[in-house]
Amino acid sequence: MYYPDEVIEEVRLKNDIVEVISGYVKMQRRGSNYFGLCPFHNEKSPSFSVSQIKQMYYCFGCGAGGNVFTFLMEYENYSFEEAVNFLAQRAGVSLPQADYSEKARRNESKRARLLEVNKAAAKYFYYQLRSERGQAGYRYLKERALSDETIKKFGLGFAHVTSDDLTRYLKSKGYEDKLIMDAGLASFDEKYGVHDKFWNRVMFPIQDGNHRVIGFGGRVMGEGKPKYLNSPETMIFDKSRNLYGLNFARTARAGHMILCEGYMDVIAMHQAGFPQAVASLGTSFTAGQANLLRRYAQEVVLAYDSDGAGVSAALRAIGILKEAGLTGKILNLEPYKDPDEFVKNLGQDALRERLEKAENSFFFELRMLERDYNLKDPESKTKFYREIARKLCGFSEEVERENYIEAVAEKYHIGFENLRRLVVSYAAQTGMTAMAVRPKSGIQKKADAAENKKKPQKLLLTWLAEEPELYPKIKKYISPKDFTLDLYQKVAEKFFEDLENGAFNPAGIVSMFSDEEQQREVAGLFNTKLMKLSTKAEKEKALHDILVAVKRESLHYFTEQAGVDVLMLNQMIEGKKALEELSKTHISLD
Ligand code: UTP
Ligand code: MN
Repeated sequence: MYYPDEVIEEVRLKNDIVEVISGYVKMQRRGSNYFGLCPFHNEKSPSFSVSQIKQMYYCFGCGAGGNVFTFLMEYENYSFEEAVNFLAQRAGVSLPQADYSEKARRNESKRARLLEVNKAAAKYFYYQLRSERGQAGYRYLKERALSDETIKKFGLGFAHVTSDDLTRYLKSKGYEDKLIMDAGLASFDEKYGVHDKFWNRVMFPIQDGNHRVIGFGGRVMGEGKPKYLNSPETMIFDKSRNLYGLNFARTARAGHMILCEGYMDVIAMHQAGFPQAVASLGTSFTAGQANLLRRYAQEVVLAYDSDGAGVSAALRAIGILKEAGLTGKILNLEPYKDPDEFVKNLGQDALRERLEKAENSFFFELRMLERDYNLKDPESKTKFYREIARKLCGFSEEVERENYIEAVAEKYHIGFENLRRLVVSYAAQTGMTAMAVRPKSGIQKKADAAENKKKPQKLLLTWLAEEPELYPKIKKYISPKDFTLDLYQKVAEKFFEDLENGAFNPAGIVSMFSDEEQQREVAGLFNTKLMKLSTKAEKEKALHDILVAVKRESLHYFTEQAGVDVLMLNQMIEGKKALEELSKTHISLD
């Protein structure tokens, strides 16, 4: 169902965000904002804030943020539509019938249709498993020690041996061939025509964070290749941005997340009382997935297979977690191959014990490294120590590095001073003289630089959201074009337009974006932490500096573009003049 913007706005305006969130989170007033414990991550002191003026919430701890709609989408796992419906009902707004005119609507509707056909397929598989013909599948799952409750919770199903079974069923329900194929549930070839992708397999529906089925994995019962067959990526199935089990794990609040390799591992973990377990989707772990995890916990325990492939996958994952600023730990599952076998054999308590003893990822890396060296041979041993020194240089923060040098020295019986000298000499040799300022990696450095560029733009938007009366003073100097990122520019365009018309509506701007990730980012734009400035002079200076920084970045941007695009040249020349003038101007807040 697609609603016109005015209707969505009406629903939003009639549902005060403080009132709505108060129903879920205990909050206290502090200044013009309300604060409470964040419902989206685990915390002991409140960093979750709700602003009545902006009609937005934002968590300074985990970065969750948005308007009243996004809150319900996150908290209740509602879709946008469901959130609108819920709040319309709450405020007694009656919603109009569908308006089918939009192009956006078409995309939305395609997504909705894909979700629908996946749901229908999941239901079909689910009932098959419980039918006479599904007994082989049911027995297989039982042999793998899954309880009925678990089978139900994960919506497991069965695709039996006939190869056009599902397709026929879906067509009888009115879904067309093209949609069924676009969803990856069937394919076409000359010989067989349209035929099911999955047959004679137990089926694992893959759900997104909101419990919507976005794809499937199907396992052969016993030996056979491929062991797991997975849905291809589709408009709704992005394997690098979803995790199996996240729909449950997101509310587990265990203080950490457990990352496994396989579907069965996740299911076994949940059954054993560890609902914080997730797995990637038949592909290797990605940065996008690390970002997803970061919303829920700071620490990720890797529960990868204990074989060679598992170890190299774990080493890769450690790197990705580090890049995302997460702490990684490694679960030792020996003598078992994977979490599923571990809990089946040793049970819940043993696993809990192993979780407590999970190994620091740096020591794990060293231990794996050690296997390539012969420590009885002085030369090889020296090489190993050099390699340790090299890795220790990777800690950019001095305190952290010193702590690690100390711990490693003790563990490997190297003299602390000796190891320290080795680290310093390694750093000197490779030109890392000022180790303390060395960022963790190239990617991190780039991320920081990009972050620094964005910062003034964010600060300016937040400041305007806090004090819209500043707008007339700054509009002489800054236009939406000065916001160099596409998303920021869109936001600024709408925000400035509103302010120009005497309207003030940051929370409404969030709803301009349909993607949850973008909504979150927009909310972040309006909720940067502003410095506490007490005197007028301080404020004037800060505002001046922010404006200059925004202008400078925009000039820099246009200058770069001017090399490739002559039209930008004008922008650049104008920008240069504007920056010079602005730098000299005193901006008065009177
Ligand atoms: P594993 O081979 O470790 O399987 O693959 P598993 O999880 O232990 O499965 P069981 O216990 O034998 O049933 C780990 C994950 O890699 C993906 C799947 O996501 C699987 O869960 N995989 C594996 C595939 O996508 N295709 C395959 O053929 C094999
Ligand atoms: Mn397994």
